[in-house]
Amino acid sequence: MSRRIPRRKGLIIAATGRPPESGDSVMKQRLWAFFGVAMIGAGILLLLASPATIPASALVPYNHDLANGEKIFNAGGCSSCHAAPAKGKACDDPKSGNRLDLAGGRCLRTDFGTFYAPNISPDRKSGIGAWSELEFVNAMLRGVSPSGEHYYPAFPYASYEHMTLSDVRDLKAYLDTLPAVQSKNIPHELSFPYSIRWGLGFWKLLYLDGKTFKPDPTKSDEINRGAYLVQGPGHCGECHTPRDSFGGMIADKALSGAPAPEGKGRVPNITPREGRFGDWSLLDIAYALKSGFTPDFDVLGGTMTKVQENMARLGDEDRRAIAAYLKSIPAIESTQVKTPAEK
Ligand code: HEC
Ligand code: HEC
Repeated sequence: MSRRIPRRKGLIIAATGRPPESGDSVMKQRLWAFFGVAMIGAGILLLLASPATIPASALVPYNHDLANGEKIFNAGGCSSCHAAPAKGKACDDPKSGNRLDLAGGRCLRTDFGTFYAPNISPDRKSGIGAWSELEFVNAMLRGVSPSGEHYYPAFPYASYEHMTLSDVRDLKAYLDTLPAVQSKNIPHELSFPYSIRWGLGFWKLLYLDGKTFKPDPTKSDEINRGAYLVQGPGHCGECHTPRDSFGGMIADKALSGAPAPEGKGRVPNITPREGRFGDWSLLDIAYALKSGFTPDFDVLGGTMTKVQENMARLGDEDRRAIAAYLKSIPAIESTQVKTPAEK
């Protein structure tokens, strides 16, 4: 299995108008006119539906819990994307330098272009050290930057948006304790129309619900804890859930496996369907997340390697909770949604 960073899918925006390569110019003009009108309509819609940010009044006085912040940092896998690649290594090399030096520079290759993770260390100039807590909260829970721009969902905020406010506040307090490192953010290399950030407003209208995770009162505390970790910080669905043609995760196919982002093979189904994974016990799953070893004497490889290394830093209760949740969800048959590379 290749150990490359995934080529993320979740970024298609509604505008699909492309200039025709050749052909008659009337057609060309019409397409461009259509595209122009679509863009103006889009702009008006966006103004009407610009994302509601979280108000300062939501941040009531609070005693931050650094140990919990560290737990959320590990569950959230921030270091997998934001730690710089090891010195002298390519930007998508799985080896990182110090996992707590969040200088950015790692690249994610996707069908839409290449994203570069920015510096999120507490450096005031090149990182996020000068950000207010509110700015951080809005980045994580609303995908909005301090200047009001939309982030690309290569930053998995479509999952992080389900995190609790207190977890995000603890996370920021923990990030503030990490080394401030200087670096220069590398601009993303995206092709038109993906290069237009405001187009992401549509994507967000379609796929973000802005809802904090709500425990299910009919389930045990352990299962609810696992559900929270999987759907929120752990963002497991970002790889394990198939996506529709606009790149949104298909909710009723959650965790049922997806084409591997590299275009070869699949990210496995982790619902308790019949067969290999369905036969894993709760303890088998918890142990695999802790050790990287599967009950069939294999190792968790590929892009799961880094996820597992982060999971190994959580406590036994949290890994057990994740396993209990995965055992509790309905089995879903794998879909045959193909990547553009597979088609
Ligand atoms: C799968 C890779 C990935 C993971 C995991 C990830 N990020 Fe990011 N993050 C990105 C990318 C890519 C961007 C740039 C998005 C953009 O430019 O629109 C980003 C942007 C950000 C920003 C905005 C920085 C700025 O300068 O505007 C913050 C803050 C951030 N991430 C924090 C986090 C935290 C905290 C975690 C862990 C809970 C995390 N990220 C996990 C890929 C990731
Ligand atoms: C960055 C993409 C990515 C994310 C995020 C991710 N996984 Fe995975 N996962 C994979 C890949 C790829 C494999 C297959 C690994 C292999 O073939 O060795 C895998 C395999 C697994 C397996 C083994 C299944 C089997 O049948 O062998 C389990 C269990 C698992 N993941 C659980 C999780 C959980 C729980 C989370 C969230 C905390 C998660 N994964 C997040 C990519 C990911």
